[in-house]
Amino acid sequence: MKPFYLTTAIDYPNAAPHLGHAYEKVLADAIARHVRRTGRPVHFLTGLDQHGQKVQQTAEKAGIHPATHVKKTSKLFTRLWESLSISHDAWIETTDERHKKAVRTLLQRLYDAGDITKGTYRGYYSVRQEQYITAKERREDGSFGPEWGEVVELEEENWYFALKKHLPWLRAFLNSHPKAVFPASRLRNLVQAVEESEGADLCISRPKSRLRWGIELPFDPDYVCYVWFDALTNYISGAGWPDGSWDAGGPRFDELWPNDCNVIGKDILVPAHGIYWLCMLHAAGFTDDQMPRFLVHGWWNIRNQAGESEKMSKSLGNVVDPQALVDTVGADALRYYLLSEMTTGQDADFSHERLIVRTNAELANGLGNLLNRALNMTQRYCGGVVTRGHHDDPLLAEVRDAVATLPARHLAALETWQFNRALEAAWSVIDTANRFVERTEPFKLAKDPAQADRVTGIMHHLCEALAHLSIFLEPVIPAAMSQLRAQLRWEPPAGLTYHTLRWGLLPDGHTIGKPKPLFTKIETDAAAPPAAG
Ligand code: MSP
Repeated sequence: MKPFYLTTAIDYPNAAPHLGHAYEKVLADAIARHVRRTGRPVHFLTGLDQHGQKVQQTAEKAGIHPATHVKKTSKLFTRLWESLSISHDAWIETTDERHKKAVRTLLQRLYDAGDITKGTYRGYYSVRQEQYITAKERREDGSFGPEWGEVVELEEENWYFALKKHLPWLRAFLNSHPKAVFPASRLRNLVQAVEESEGADLCISRPKSRLRWGIELPFDPDYVCYVWFDALTNYISGAGWPDGSWDAGGPRFDELWPNDCNVIGKDILVPAHGIYWLCMLHAAGFTDDQMPRFLVHGWWNIRNQAGESEKMSKSLGNVVDPQALVDTVGADALRYYLLSEMTTGQDADFSHERLIVRTNAELANGLGNLLNRALNMTQRYCGGVVTRGHHDDPLLAEVRDAVATLPARHLAALETWQFNRALEAAWSVIDTANRFVERTEPFKLAKDPAQADRVTGIMHHLCEALAHLSIFLEPVIPAAMSQLRAQLRWEPPAGLTYHTLRWGLLPDGHTIGKPKPLFTKIETDAAAPPAAG
């Protein structure tokens, strides 16, 4: 079976990672874990986009070589991914020789095909966005918006990719492939941008006099490659393009491609992924069936003192540091918060208070208590042994029925990557199970030897429900679910999928372990959001 080839945007390690970076990786990781559980192999690639003018400038200011600067900041990202249990199969850094070689091969191929030619540019250039800006971006008073940062006027010779030539194909492709971009509203934005595009070619070089921190063009040593052209190529280079594999012994490019799911933020669909990348692939000979699919997520914003939603930015001083959150609330609590508070594709506001409420009420109380009660009472009343037996009780049937609804609800929600809805389905089972304990009161029944069989049945149902829940919650809170299973002393059999899951995961006579708290409650005065460095 072709692996599900999953990628994310590769992050700029110019400064410390922020919450938006963490969200994208957590979303992709939850997708990877979910798809693996459907029985399909997954190949998950992510990494870092290390070239470009911004990195060069920051390094210059610090008086160090760009390589030294990115090496240092890259570590902040790799540490964060490790602490968040991001389960990527491959890692790419654009300074890697294997990647550089693939970029040069692609450039040469497009050059040989006549799709890269030299031209003269006269006009404005945004240092911040590392791109030339057209008249369209100009305000009525002639100035440029703050998003462009410092804008300089220049005239220089450069190399251009024949983007214009491929736009008619792109229009037709987008109109006939409604699944190319999710959600549909983002596809509409892209289609509109293509319709309105002035059809300018894309400048893919920067003279070395201005930028040295990049990949040299194979056909002109006076220039380096434009950072976006370099970065976008990671999705094929990191899969082993043109005809190999990225890691020795890893899957080959022809086994992996196309990219089944490319998780990106809404800011980089137009023009980078939706226009440049698709046209680059088309120009390189990729067919319509070989185009990637984009999953476009929204932004994490933050409310200001006036209660308005604001973009997180360094200049506003409201950037949330995900590493500090992992260090204080724990990785799974942060993962759970990010995926339960966001409707995939839309924006959300970060709130430290909500993070605490969700961690305390849902993880520590709802799930944590269920596990604690189930294991404690099974130890106390059944000698730690789960025995199948007593079934004919409508309350027990309610638990079994609730568990039985999980696969369909979970799979339906994840068809459109709505982890919040999948979690709601799991939480309805947790609530049913907790209510079941309150209604059956096994702690009272246990006092009456005549009710022993009933107590055994209740414990069996609680432990079995927890084994099921561990499968459905694993994509979102993997570390906690592996702890839960260690306490249950149960591991899913190899090859278990959502489709082969049946009531009866725990063998008759199974011995469970001792309960330990899965989540620690957060004190409410730990509420001040830490700022990123
Ligand atoms: N290096 C480019 C991507 C190249 S992909 C070939 C880049 N890097 S980035 O570090 O600026 O952003 C990385 C990802 O984080 C992007 O998908 C971006 O949309 C996402 N986010 C950045 N800020 C975000 C939020 N506040 N909220 C959610 N995601 C956001 O762009």
